[in-house]
Amino acid sequence: MTKIAIQFKNVSKKFEKAQDYAVSDISVEIEEGNFVTILGTSGSGKTTFLKMINRIYETTSGEILFYGENIKSLPVEKHRRKIGYVIQQIGLFPHMTVEENIATVPKILHWNKAKIATRVDDLLNLVNLSPENFKKRYPRQLSGGQQQRIGLARAMAADPEIMLMDEPFGAIDAITRQNLQDELLKIQKKLNKTILFVTHDVNEAFKLGDKVIVMNKGKIEQFDTPYNILFKPANEFVAKLVSSDDILQRFKFLKAEDAMISLDTAFEPSTIRVLNKQSLYDVLTTFLSNNVKTIIVEDEKQIPIGKIEWDYLNNSFAHKKQEIEDRPGEYFDKLSI
Ligand SMILES: Nc1ncnc2c1ncn2[C@@H]1O[C@H](COP(=O)(O)OP(=O)(O)OP(=O)(O)O)[C@@H](O)[C@H]1O
Ligand SMILES: [Mg+2]
Repeated sequence: MTKIAIQFKNVSKKFEKAQDYAVSDISVEIEEGNFVTILGTSGSGKTTFLKMINRIYETTSGEILFYGENIKSLPVEKHRRKIGYVIQQIGLFPHMTVEENIATVPKILHWNKAKIATRVDDLLNLVNLSPENFKKRYPRQLSGGQQQRIGLARAMAADPEIMLMDEPFGAIDAITRQNLQDELLKIQKKLNKTILFVTHDVNEAFKLGDKVIVMNKGKIEQFDTPYNILFKPANEFVAKLVSSDDILQRFKFLKAEDAMISLDTAFEPSTIRVLNKQSLYDVLTTFLSNNVKTIIVEDEKQIPIGKIEWDYLNNSFAHKKQEIEDRPGEYFDKLSI
């Protein structure tokens, strides 16, 4: 059974002297191992939501449970060590080397020297920086992207159960950002961490998130798969936030598995297949080039895990269709099945 890593029960936060609640009566459950991205306008309460989890901010009312236990039942420092935290401004200690930065929490936990040294090397390798080359450098001797990798390594040093990431790639150029996203996905797949990741970039939210939280004015408007957020927005706010002039661009960031339904009937061995992590853009291309009505979705071990029906796909984006058909030469005009 899937465990619930974090549970919010009617959580609200009002800052002193503020008129409105920064977070207002949120109830939500985050499953262990899930990568959840958080989207929302500026000031909608995303950072406050994260900071209540590691108790940088205390809740005004309601309860937050961490694996079923109230987060206030532990001393705050002990609780915080279970949680990795990465922010845009990185916050590396400027007077410490990369090695010392990464070793901060293990030192607090009194790990022995050999264990710390091995951990530092392992983490540097994990974030794709060579230990020999980077260990002894100071933060000022690193590029922004490299600093962000060290920030990630440091947050993971004591193997936290969950990771909170607040716009970690916000200030990084598009190409480096894509590399960091791909690496983070690989790391998450390998270590199966529970990650909460705030971003303003809808494509980034769709690409990284198994599920997406959309926030507005301190409330959660929708908590759903990227596919449902795009095709079945809960309300006008969500629809507007994720709308795009180039809807096909969005398809590149959705995954085949988001659009699949269960394999209820037998299928021909010859049925066309796609990989679960392939983009919906690839799926559309596959439908088009093969002129079929059903496609099987398989995992990396080539085990079929679901199917995508053209009709289902077609129905669910009925309200997006106009946008697409308005564009000359797009997929759906050409598809004659
Ligand atoms: N320390 C604080 N003291 C008082 N008010 C605060 C504090 N931190 C945040 N707020 C207010 O709470 C609301 C939510 O802020 P928060 O930082 O959570 O938004 P956000 O969604 O992270 O925005 P952004 O996308 O700009 O980072 C805002 O109205 C903000 O002004
Ligand atoms: Mg914020």
